[in-house]
Amino acid sequence: MADVPWWRRAVIYQVYVRSLADSDGDGIGDLPGVRAHLAYIADLGVDAVWLTPFYPSPQADAGYDVSDHRDVDPTFGTLADFDALVADAHRLGLRVIVDIVPNHTSSEHPWFRAALAGGPGSAARARYIFREGRDGGERPPNDWPSVFGGSAWERVPDGQWYLHLFAPEQPDLDWTNEEVRAEFDSILRFWLDRGVDGFRIDVAHGLAKDPGLPDLPAGFSVAGAAAAGHPHWDRDDVHAVFRRWRRITDSYRRDVAFVGEAWVETPVQLARYVRPDELHTAFNFEFLLAPWDGPSLRRAIDASIEALAAVGAPATWVLSNHDVVRHVTRYGGGEEGVRRARAAALLLLALPGGAYVYQGEELGLPQVTDLPDEVLQDPTFVRTGGAERGRDGCRVPLPWSGDEPPFGFGPPGSTPWLPQPAGWDRLTAERQASDPDSMLSLYRRALRLRRGVEDEPFEWMDADGADVGVLAFRRGPGFTCVVNVGDGMVDRPAAVGSAAPVLLASDPLADDGRIPGSTAVWYGVPPTARA
Ligand code: GLC
Repeated sequence: MADVPWWRRAVIYQVYVRSLADSDGDGIGDLPGVRAHLAYIADLGVDAVWLTPFYPSPQADAGYDVSDHRDVDPTFGTLADFDALVADAHRLGLRVIVDIVPNHTSSEHPWFRAALAGGPGSAARARYIFREGRDGGERPPNDWPSVFGGSAWERVPDGQWYLHLFAPEQPDLDWTNEEVRAEFDSILRFWLDRGVDGFRIDVAHGLAKDPGLPDLPAGFSVAGAAAAGHPHWDRDDVHAVFRRWRRITDSYRRDVAFVGEAWVETPVQLARYVRPDELHTAFNFEFLLAPWDGPSLRRAIDASIEALAAVGAPATWVLSNHDVVRHVTRYGGGEEGVRRARAAALLLLALPGGAYVYQGEELGLPQVTDLPDEVLQDPTFVRTGGAERGRDGCRVPLPWSGDEPPFGFGPPGSTPWLPQPAGWDRLTAERQASDPDSMLSLYRRALRLRRGVEDEPFEWMDADGADVGVLAFRRGPGFTCVVNVGDGMVDRPAAVGSAAPVLLASDPLADDGRIPGSTAVWYGVPPTARA
């Protein structure tokens, strides 16, 4: 199976650079901090890391407001630090994916400054989406809201308005402009030439806008999934961009992969992004959004596998990332949330295709829900007038070691950019590494066992108890995964066979082998693990 491209089955560890490790004590994670923890990440048993944006940025949206796409922000290090990180990662057998943010730039990007200076009608303004307002210019050109709250339009001193689907500090680029397209070709090449193995494409579903910029039709909203016919989400024209990009990566004679962030309504819409001449993979948010119940999870799994198989693309499974509530908390929090998260990890890692692990989920970190207002930094908090607390609670710096903050995130005495809960002394990587029952130990064991089955075909099994929320499937002849999503104890499904040993269980089974609620079990003898 050596000819299966790595990205078809990779487990990719999402490094949220600001919050992984702070090497210089300024409170913010950085590339040397990441580099110092690559051995930990490799030892987990993943195949690659995805680094969230580390480019020069005023940090209006935690780095997703890029002011220079070809450098490293001094807060995060230097290009030399980046090169050293890639070299170390490759030595450890880890591939490196970087984030590319094509929908918008920072308002501090030289292009946007030139657009402001150039004035209405200038070529510099044509790289962005500037328009006259309505009602003599006083009202925005249309009624689109920003994803972060408020209007998606901001007025500049000469009277024109510019579009920003996110914060005003993130003006949207005009992808009908060839200069924009050529610039991103060149940015991709810049990082490919530095040795990256792929790109995560931010807001991949947002690049094309209805040229008429009409108001949102009734029933459409800016948030959530995108329905067909939306004036700025998931429009057909985005696909030409990705076909163009695919020609670039294909011209490199190595296995480079794209993963698209496309929040769309259905797996069928998602599958259009991963047709053979477009992106290699796309995040499968269907699974992330499914509630913790058997039928919903099964529906999400089936719909995803089916839609993606139709275009020959692998599925990717995701439970958490830097934009959503951490799944321990989403699944109910507390002890039950942890049980479900443990079971979900075994489900995630047994499904066919690739998987993403968001830093800290292997430690079972919950969402921090009680961050005080004054430390919140997500623009959503301010732009919704506090109605939404924003995403900071899933971005709290990782606890590595020790008994008190900063828990090894930064040098002793340093203050992390978001405060860590005092109780995280029980969740440090150091503490969990020596506890065979910890979440970290579960991930490590599961990731090792997974290597033996990742090329095996997926097949649902008839399980007694499907009605009470039991999911059961095979990967090849020798391996089965059973997840009791319900609350009550269930029997070991007969279809598993009585001879198959338990390889791994997310929590202890009953003495007679029955499976308690919110527990997943891997049975069988996986084929020899890949070297
Ligand atoms: C993506 C990122 C998110 C960011 C937004 C705007 O959804 O994941 O963090 O705020 O794009 O760039």
